[in-house]
Amino acid sequence: MNSVFMGLAERALEHFGNKTTDQAESTMEIPLAAYRDLDRYADEIERIFKQLPLAAALSLELPSAGSYRAMNLLGVPLLLVRGEDMQVRAMLNVCSHRGAQLCKIGAGTQKMITCPYHAWSYDDRGDLIGRYGANTFGDIDAADYGLTRLHCEEKAGIIWVCLTAGKVFDIDTWLGDFGDELNTLDLDNWHMYDQRDIAGPGWKVTMDGYLEAYHHQLVHRETVGKYTVGNLLVLDTYGPHQRLTFGRKSLRELIGQPADQWQPEEHIRLIHSGFPNLSISGILGDHCLVSQVFPGDTPATTITRQTVLVANKPETPDQVAATEAFSALTLKAVQEEDYGIGFSIQAGLDSAANDHFLLGRNEPAVQNYHTWIAKFMDSKSYEMKRPEHLSYKK
Ligand code: FES
Ligand SMILES: [Fe+2]
Repeated sequence: MNSVFMGLAERALEHFGNKTTDQAESTMEIPLAAYRDLDRYADEIERIFKQLPLAAALSLELPSAGSYRAMNLLGVPLLLVRGEDMQVRAMLNVCSHRGAQLCKIGAGTQKMITCPYHAWSYDDRGDLIGRYGANTFGDIDAADYGLTRLHCEEKAGIIWVCLTAGKVFDIDTWLGDFGDELNTLDLDNWHMYDQRDIAGPGWKVTMDGYLEAYHHQLVHRETVGKYTVGNLLVLDTYGPHQRLTFGRKSLRELIGQPADQWQPEEHIRLIHSGFPNLSISGILGDHCLVSQVFPGDTPATTITRQTVLVANKPETPDQVAATEAFSALTLKAVQEEDYGIGFSIQAGLDSAANDHFLLGRNEPAVQNYHTWIAKFMDSKSYEMKRPEHLSYKK
């Protein structure tokens, strides 16, 4: 029996019996400027999203040598390529001749990268290896015209990238003990069932909703709220990263049951929340939802990349139906329910009804999230303070 799940189920059961939850020390006020101010937003995008390691894709999205994935993240044209040596490399999806987009947005497999404009070609490291009509073009040093590389590391089934060229990170330092938690999810070994991009409200409004169970009974009464206990959260923090444990209503079955008969994983639900925009949910059982929340062009918009994973490729009609039901449930819970409320919050932000939002003691993960945003932004320079286990190389 997994002792981690056992411990979490015990903590959840205690709260369930007492109608309590993990709490922060006090309530917390967040000025609305944190949600609206344009200069602050631009600064946060730069420091938090472009200078820290960002979960850009799942390893599963680049399954074999030659796999590539092109996307625009926060205005950065990103190209991920898995090379012959099975290493994933990140580069800017921009030709070094006259700047054409090299690969169309999407995914596929290719032996080399060939520009659609004048057929310059690059290998899986982004090195320039061929130029159409080279004898007519004039002499250049090919070494000066490779693609711009971004630092990239693959860890725990996730491809982490820093969107600022020249900035280097150490993924183990960044994740700390949270890396071990992510490893338990075995993200390399799932089957990718579906992936979709969903328009959402602003970054902080959206993320706040991923970090508490206080809203579950009301907002999700037709979906996940049927199964989870509202306002019950067991929280473990790893610096800015967090593991949230929600209780399932079936916890009541454990009352009076000898602990050696427990199947603890059936009565809790885990969310692994990687700062600043990753949420991995519902990992217990055969289905899992990975969400990456990317800020949009303004503080009022985001795009969430939602990836539905299933333990094994569904084959039988029953398996397909179960996976489709999970996929539809999560889409509805997020798009209609969470983001429905989120858009309504966003619409009222400019109304001057509030000058701050108030986070309750029962919303400790939301508090921790905003505390870490403030820690990263407090530094006067872009070379951030490194509290606790965090440290960086330049
Ligand atoms: S822009 Fe790519 S080859 Fe000219
Ligand atoms: Fe929700």
